[in-house]
Amino acid sequence: MIVLSGIRPTGNLHLGNYFGAVKNFVKMQETNKCFFFIADYHSLTTHPDPKILHHNVKNVLVDYLASGLDPEKSTIYIQSDLPEVAELALLLSMHAYLGELERTTSFKEKARQQPENVNAGLLTYPVLQAADILIHHANKVPVGKDQQQHLEMTRNFAARFNRIYNKEYFPIPEPFNFGEELLKIPGLDGSGKMGKSENNGIFLIDDPATIRKKVKRAVTDSGPTEPNSTVSEPVNNLFTLMAAVSKSDTLQFFKEQYANCTIKYGDLKKQLAEDIIAYTQPIREKILDLSQNNDYLKKVVENGKEKAKVSAAKTIKEVREIMGIKEF
Ligand code: TRP
Repeated sequence: MIVLSGIRPTGNLHLGNYFGAVKNFVKMQETNKCFFFIADYHSLTTHPDPKILHHNVKNVLVDYLASGLDPEKSTIYIQSDLPEVAELALLLSMHAYLGELERTTSFKEKARQQPENVNAGLLTYPVLQAADILIHHANKVPVGKDQQQHLEMTRNFAARFNRIYNKEYFPIPEPFNFGEELLKIPGLDGSGKMGKSENNGIFLIDDPATIRKKVKRAVTDSGPTEPNSTVSEPVNNLFTLMAAVSKSDTLQFFKEQYANCTIKYGDLKKQLAEDIIAYTQPIREKILDLSQNNDYLKKVVENGKEKAKVSAAKTIKEVREIMGIKEF
């Protein structure tokens, strides 16, 4: 099975990225043909500072490798290293309709967030994403809630292409569901999932002092007042984090303390911080090591590009022919 996932490079990866996706990617690469790429073209839709874009691409690459994505087992590449993707997006755009693009939730949201910059790249974002997926004939795409609509559009574009040219050419990609294994990691600010903001996210690269400081500041409540009361959202979030990084005995211990109203949040946080530090330590060491090793990163990227080119070039050649672009 061909599995593909892309990520926009917007900074370092946090525990939410790790437990919600990357950790599972590491497993998937054992039994599937996997493509993991960094979607730098997509990043351009929000006009990042050209001085930091490359930096962000490098950070994601390093975090991916340090987390265990293996360039021998998987194809790890940078989107902009495959101009075939841009060409396929152009070709697919001929069958993408203005109405459906304008109705896309992510487009409407971005148009609201950045009214001064409603560019054509934002409008055709789902077409580019479809090209990412279809260029390798991917069968499965791991997607969170926010990407479901984009995958649905990819499915539509693929089916439409097949219908228009009367050929079962593109496989219709399906969402990959981790099911039970998928951990949704909440943030530290009391509600919602872990994000990038400083007081909400813990990054794989964070050092022990930073982790201690962040966890210490995490939102809690005023404490349980009667036995076996329902756990409030912020405290439950800390338990969820603990479930990801701590021994089950530890979690059990603090849950019982909560139930009998003897819990001290200071102790819970101290333990949680130390367990996060221990869990992320090997990853952080690899991150520090890899960031110094530009020669190696360059090799990984070149090798990924070469591997990704194989299916990309084949698809472009075939799509051109199907659409009537022929060589003399
Ligand atoms: N739009 C995705 C996001 O913001 C990133 C992405 C680009 C992607 N191309 C993709 C994800 C192809 C999966 C498949 O997270």
